[in-house]
Amino acid sequence: MNISPNTKLVGLIGHPVEHSLSPKLHNSLYKKYNLDYVYLAFDIAPDDVGKALEAFKVLGFKGFNVTIPHKERVMWFLDWLDTEAAIIGAVNTVKVENGKLIGYNTDGMGFVDSLKRRGIALKDTVALVLGAGGAARAICVYLLKEGVKELYIYNRTRERAIELIKHLERFFSGVCLNYLTKENIKEVQPDLVVNTTPVGMWPHTQLMPVEDYAFLPGMIVVDIIYNPIETAFLRKARQAGCMAINGLDMLVGQAIKAIEIWTGLKVDYDEAISILIEGDKFLL
Ligand SMILES: NC(=O)c1ccc[n+]([C@@H]2O[C@H](COP(=O)([O-])OP(=O)(O)OC[C@H]3O[C@@H](n4cnc5c(N)ncnc54)[C@H](OP(=O)(O)O)[C@@H]3O)[C@@H](O)[C@H]2O)c1
Repeated sequence: MNISPNTKLVGLIGHPVEHSLSPKLHNSLYKKYNLDYVYLAFDIAPDDVGKALEAFKVLGFKGFNVTIPHKERVMWFLDWLDTEAAIIGAVNTVKVENGKLIGYNTDGMGFVDSLKRRGIALKDTVALVLGAGGAARAICVYLLKEGVKELYIYNRTRERAIELIKHLERFFSGVCLNYLTKENIKEVQPDLVVNTTPVGMWPHTQLMPVEDYAFLPGMIVVDIIYNPIETAFLRKARQAGCMAINGLDMLVGQAIKAIEIWTGLKVDYDEAISILIEGDKFLL
């Protein structure tokens, strides 16, 4: 990497951020495509998000990604929201343009594309989403856009699941939307289960978002965590005969969309994923 006074700054805010593969993925792609950009990760406490954003403007950042737990809070400080980010109600990518902060969401597209690439059709399926945070919001919107007929949400904080369902009902009609509790989660047999919580993420890799979940053979189970590459939840799903998909494809999909927003360059998906898995050097 050749850093000069002209090198453009982009990055990530989250809390924590040490698990993130985004700096490695982005910086490798910038090198490969000769983009004079550098991507840095910043661990920002929730109360400091506004101050961090002001600092990014002063320092001339071109943009930044937003991860757990700031995807909703960051919206308070933005000047404009892309339509899709407004519908989702969460932002994972911000562009800084003429001193203004413009919010986008590339998570939902990254998620759905990762299923489409495997030939998975979502129309008329039944889906269960674990979690009701920023990533869940984006994924739920995209599942509904793709024609899921029943969508269930299970979340540690029940009120947040109910709030998300009410939000979704404003944009999508004719769909069965409901929340599940620990007690009745086993009564629904979905075609697709998606873990959007950080439970099971490094370093707490033995934890599961739902203990003793009744996986059935043939279910599609996605854990959007990518560190570790196979969570305990995903391992159980695979052992039960489910199609188990980790969060790597989604990471790449949302990253290449962010690069397009910041630089205008369309990065090839296959090239990006090959950089990520090349020699396992990223993941181990
Ligand atoms: N693969 C990818 O490209 C990709 C993209 C986006 C996110 N992610 C991953 O997805 C995860 C969530 O990110 P996010 O931005 O959506 O975070 P977020 O907005 O903070 O939401 C976190 C969600 O997880 C739940 N949760 C958190 N800790 C929990 C615990 N100990 N037990 C049970 N539930 C818990 C929260 O429930 P409460 O409402 O009860 O707090 C909330 O529903 C992170 O691991 C992130 O790295 C991956």
